[in-house]
Order: sequence, then C-alpha cells, then structure tokens
Amino acid sequence: MTTILDVQRFKDEGRRFAMLTAYDYLSAQILDQAGIPILLVGDSLGMVMLGYPTTLPVTLDEMIHHAKAVARGARQALLVGDMPFMSYHTSIEQAIASGGRFLQEGGMHAVKLEGGGRIVEITHRLTSLGIPVMGHLGLTPQFVHQMGGFKVQGKTEAQAARILADATELEQAGAFSLVLEGVPSDLAARVTRALRVPTIGIGAGPSTDAQVLVFHDLLGLTTGKAPKFVKRYAHLANQVTAAAQQFAEEVGRGVFPGPEHEYSANGSGPGVTGERQEVRYGAG
Ligand code: KIV
Repeated sequence: MTTILDVQRFKDEGRRFAMLTAYDYLSAQILDQAGIPILLVGDSLGMVMLGYPTTLPVTLDEMIHHAKAVARGARQALLVGDMPFMSYHTSIEQAIASGGRFLQEGGMHAVKLEGGGRIVEITHRLTSLGIPVMGHLGLTPQFVHQMGGFKVQGKTEAQAARILADATELEQAGAFSLVLEGVPSDLAARVTRALRVPTIGIGAGPSTDAQVLVFHDLLGLTTGKAPKFVKRYAHLANQVTAAAQQFAEEVGRGVFPGPEHEYSANGSGPGVTGERQEVRYGAG
C-alpha cells in the first residue's frame, strides 16, 4: 500500500507521480487497479457529483459518505479526504474532530486542507495527532468569493512571495505534500525547488513533482470548453450518450432484451442453458 513515506521517496528519487480524484466505490477500484498511487476524495465532488455551483455547500457528512465508498474500492492507493468548507474553520478542536472522522469513519489515510496562515497551526496539530496533512495553495476553490472568482493566483511578486512563505510554513508544520493549483508555472517550479516534500500541480505547469486531475475531466465526462489546464484522455460523455440512445432505440424496436438476457423458471431457458441464474453485480 502507498504511504506518505512512499510519496516522499518518489520525490527523493525524482519519480514523478499521479493523483486522481475518486468519489465512489467502482471508480476507486478501477483507478486503484490501474496503479494510481494517490486517490483524493476531493470536495470537487460537490460540483461534478452533486451539481453545486461551487465546493462551498459540500458538508462533512457528504464527504464522509463518499470517502467510505472510495475506501471500500481501493486496496493499494494512499487515500486523502478533502476537508470541506467550514469543517476546520471555527477552531482547532473542530479541525481535529473533522480530520479524525475522515480517518476513523471514512477510511482515509490523510486529509487535505486549503490555505496558509492559520491553517499552518491546524496542520501542526493534526500531524502531531497522527492525521497526515496534504496542503493546498494557490487557487483554493473554498476562497472563491475572497478571490473574486476562480482566478490564477500568485501573479504578482507579493502574492508569489506569500505562497512561497505559506508553502514553507506548511512543510515545517508537518504537511507531507502540497497541492499547487492555478499558479504560474515558474512560481510552481520555485515552490517545488524550495520544498523537501512533493508538490502536486493542477494548472501549475510541468515542474511540480506530481500532477492531479479531476476524474470527470480526465475521462471527458465533463463537457463544453474545458479549463486550459485540463487534458481529456477520453471522451466518455459522447460514448454514454451514444450508449443511452442505442439502448432506448433497441427497447423501442423490441430488440433488447434478446434471448441471452432472459431468465426462465427451470434455469434452462434460451441463452441460459447450463448456467446458474444469478442476479448480482460486482462479481468481477
Ligand atoms: O477537490 C479537488 O478535487 C481538489 C483537487 C483539484 C486538487 O482539490
């Protein structure tokens, strides 16, 4: 199983690695078996799974629900649960309780928190209690209203210096890795050189130690114009549409179900001769 020590080793050995988001049992199982070393149960699930306009409405209970499903599907990957908005904002005690739920109930191995500043102290407390922390700086979606939209961060020297300082402080507080989202490539390269722990980029250029994509973006399940940093490695939305339309068309023509999909009372009907008539999923 991948641990936070392996993740550090990847950086020490100069091995670039991938992280993907996962939100449910089956996709976690597929990504885990594909050898993806880190699966993030991101609060982006609020947008791609639940249809919220931002990540802000996502609750801790919703995150734990999805985390549990991912943990049931994955065997090898390091599992990281994203602490949602307002689950670590009111006090250190609240952050500890929320982080603890991710490990205890959600089956996660680590948590991710957005921001620097007071998140540094929370990171220190969580890691001292055995809750590994992945930091997240740059375009931090939980700050969407503070940033005035989903905008690239760290473009001015002052902002860049702040991000670099936050990154160093998070590392010193015990963060085992750091997501850099929506920052200029040269800033991501500077942060990556400055840190001992690995950086994981999304919209941060090629110099970070690792890259992360959202599952639905990777597969082209999201449609329309993709943000610049997204590469669609498949176009499944088109395939889903075609499959659904073909199904409806075959039902209309009376072609589906065919004999091979039928059950009979004695287990020897058309298409099932000699087979056990089991009705189940996930048997592999
Ligand atoms: O919620 C999420 O999916 C994330 C990744 C994009 C890093 O935070």
